[in-house]
Amino acid sequence: MNKKLSFALIVLLCSAMALAARNTPAATSKNILLKYKDSTINMAGCWRLDLVQDGNVTLTTYFILKKDTGMKYSGMIIINRSGRLAIRKQHMEGNELVFSPGWNRDYRLRLEGDKLHVTLIYSAGGQQQGFAVRAPIEETYPPKPLPLPELATIPYNGLAKTPPMGWNSWNHFSSRVNDSIVRAMADKMVSSGLVKAGYVYINIDDCWEGTRDADGNIVPNSKFPDMKALAAYVHSRGLKLGIYSSPGPVTCGGYLGSFGHEVQDANTYAAWGIDYLKYDWCSAGGIYKSEQLQAGYQKMGSALANCGRPIVYSLCEYGTNEVWKWGPQVGGNLWRTTGDIQDNWRSMSNIGFNQSKLAPYAAPGHWNDPDMLEVGNGGMTNTEYRTHFSLWCLQAAPLIAGNDLNLMTPETLNILGNTEAIAIDQDPLGHSAVQVAKDGDIQVWVRDLKDGSKAVGIFNTGTTTQTATLNFSDIKVDGKAQVRDLWLHKTMGKFDGQYKADVESHGVILLKVTPKK
Ligand code: GLA
Repeated sequence: MNKKLSFALIVLLCSAMALAARNTPAATSKNILLKYKDSTINMAGCWRLDLVQDGNVTLTTYFILKKDTGMKYSGMIIINRSGRLAIRKQHMEGNELVFSPGWNRDYRLRLEGDKLHVTLIYSAGGQQQGFAVRAPIEETYPPKPLPLPELATIPYNGLAKTPPMGWNSWNHFSSRVNDSIVRAMADKMVSSGLVKAGYVYINIDDCWEGTRDADGNIVPNSKFPDMKALAAYVHSRGLKLGIYSSPGPVTCGGYLGSFGHEVQDANTYAAWGIDYLKYDWCSAGGIYKSEQLQAGYQKMGSALANCGRPIVYSLCEYGTNEVWKWGPQVGGNLWRTTGDIQDNWRSMSNIGFNQSKLAPYAAPGHWNDPDMLEVGNGGMTNTEYRTHFSLWCLQAAPLIAGNDLNLMTPETLNILGNTEAIAIDQDPLGHSAVQVAKDGDIQVWVRDLKDGSKAVGIFNTGTTTQTATLNFSDIKVDGKAQVRDLWLHKTMGKFDGQYKADVESHGVILLKVTPKK
């Protein structure tokens, strides 16, 4: 190479380097440096995590992460393709980003090559691990809403003239429910005698769903090999079978919902021999506006009305948009009035003592549903479970046990099987109790019964035993009345104007008060 040429080449190279340096944003070299200092920098972006869950079903979670200043991230999580939740309590532990979606779990994320190693830690115990990969943000967008029907009134199906009674898998078994558990619960319902007390529905909650076949028919997952055979078995025990779905593409657990298959699913349930459907809003919340709840529920209501089989219709949308005002119109036999119950005093009492204003909406065929029972699940004392059961019976709530019937203690069986309390719940008048007196920790709730007597609960929400006075004037009883204690199963005598009793902390005195001239 001659000298001139090599000089020209050097000049060309230098100017190319200068140009490259000019075109490269100053931030890049800084970023490269940061990348080495901060190994978490690349966590920003949209990530998809596929985890295989109970029933061999793959559920998808998305993390949408944004890097803020310093070592901070903010962002959203879409669990099981349901609604978006802001990530909370996020902080770094070493090179791991730790956060909670504010709901029964924590996540730990760390970068490994071009993947995110994810550890999902359940608050109830147990964890799962997997790798998330980068995904286009468009993947996280919910499907477009489907057309919904004009509002109309679905005729009453004639079912649930008294509040439904039975068992549901969610509170105890959650995603672990399977065919043999359902059969075992049906067996135990009979052998324990609870069937004689009135329990009839054996309800499979979420996590039974698998895929759709080539014709779009829903197929259960591997935990439920033959739903028709299961229904036949439950029927052979003199019981009825319930199932669960959602108007959205996925259920709250991330399994397949009825979105776009409402009529087809109702017909499938009828063909299997299903007697009860709990229909849970879940991912429909990311697609429809809350003003569309009624039409969304009406869509399945009319599918059920036309499926050729009587199916109790249980609406589960957590009390949004005053469902109690339109529940009957969409064919609903019961509607959840609150968020999910948990097996502790705080959750149960928050729900149970705050339903008084909904009493006017309970009526034969149409019930307020303060969620399923936790009796026997272990998070409350037997005294608290008696309060739980009494509140539900007074308020004409569906009595859907949520425990493992095979692990019932005699106390649990005594509570769930208290036929005198159940008679209050099932009273044909179908009235719900209201709070009529409150003095410190003592509350009095009363409900009219068909035979002219009153069901009364005297509750003590305080921390020590208290002597409570029931004034007959508060329950509109004039003069004398016979008082029967429905937990002691004992007629206490005839009383004039008032009745006094000691009520233990978090306890209840449940009475039937019959006016006697
Ligand atoms: C929601 C409902 C619960 C239960 C779960 C199942 O949280 O409110 O009762 O059905 O979904 O995923």
